[in-house]
Amino acid sequence: MAATILDGKAIAKQIELEITERVAAFTAKSGSQPGLAAVLVGEDPASQVYVRNKQRACERVGIASFMHRLPANTTAEGLLKLVAQLNADAQVSGILVQLPLPGGIDQTLILDAIDPSKDVDCFHPHNVGLVSQGRPRFLPCTPHGVMQILHRSGIAAAGKHAVVIGRSEIVGKPMAMMLMQKDSTCGSSAANATVTVCHSRTPNMPEICRTADIVIAAIGKPRFVTADMVKPGAAVIDVGINRTEDGLCGDVDFDSVKQVASAITPVPGGVGPLTIVMLMENTLRAAEWQAGND
Ligand code: GUN
Repeated sequence: MAATILDGKAIAKQIELEITERVAAFTAKSGSQPGLAAVLVGEDPASQVYVRNKQRACERVGIASFMHRLPANTTAEGLLKLVAQLNADAQVSGILVQLPLPGGIDQTLILDAIDPSKDVDCFHPHNVGLVSQGRPRFLPCTPHGVMQILHRSGIAAAGKHAVVIGRSEIVGKPMAMMLMQKDSTCGSSAANATVTVCHSRTPNMPEICRTADIVIAAIGKPRFVTADMVKPGAAVIDVGINRTEDGLCGDVDFDSVKQVASAITPVPGGVGPLTIVMLMENTLRAAEWQAGND
């Protein structure tokens, strides 16, 4: 039987409506609008699209957006100066420095300089530590989006074997951490998985993947997960966005895998829209947290 296609756009829209209401309530109560500052260094076309989409989402949910475009030859010192300004700006609830930064700039140095209470990407070691201890202040946007898709599609993680393919700081590692926790923002049934992380040095990856009830592909290789790697009836979440000669595709070979999986996310229109909406949620959380700690 062919898989159910999980409609990330529709799920994101639903969450966006919920956030829009929460933003309006916060703004009415506090008298100030949450604000997101986005910093874009250089001219990378994909990054420009991502940042524009984030700005548009801000407009839709009622979050103020502050755009800072810097030339590709910006120095680390220049960027640190801007981050310090944004840290001190009361109108800025959240700060997002779009990655990748141009070569030559130490990414870690810049991301570590963001005030952890404004770190809406959840990249700062302080916030990563809180996630790993199961007491998050923010949740990393893409893994949180994956959990929302599973939860809102009625796919429980508790007691299941989840295989995460990829060990990146942005997706793979935090995804594994969140799935193995005892609880989550979507309840305990969305957590409590038995988690295996596979990566580029894992031998027998197809064999391991075939034991998964839930596969999360985040390895950055076009159509890497093929039907022979998927147990019949498994749920498959594709986090990949790869630009190939024949257009955009995910890390999953969609056409073959949809024949064996019970549920699958498409690319585009799967996880991507959720990432942006979870960023909006983190910006609202930041504003709420800052208002409560003045
Ligand atoms: N570039 C690709 N994904 C991301 C993300 O989630 N956050 C930021 N800041 N940059 C990115």
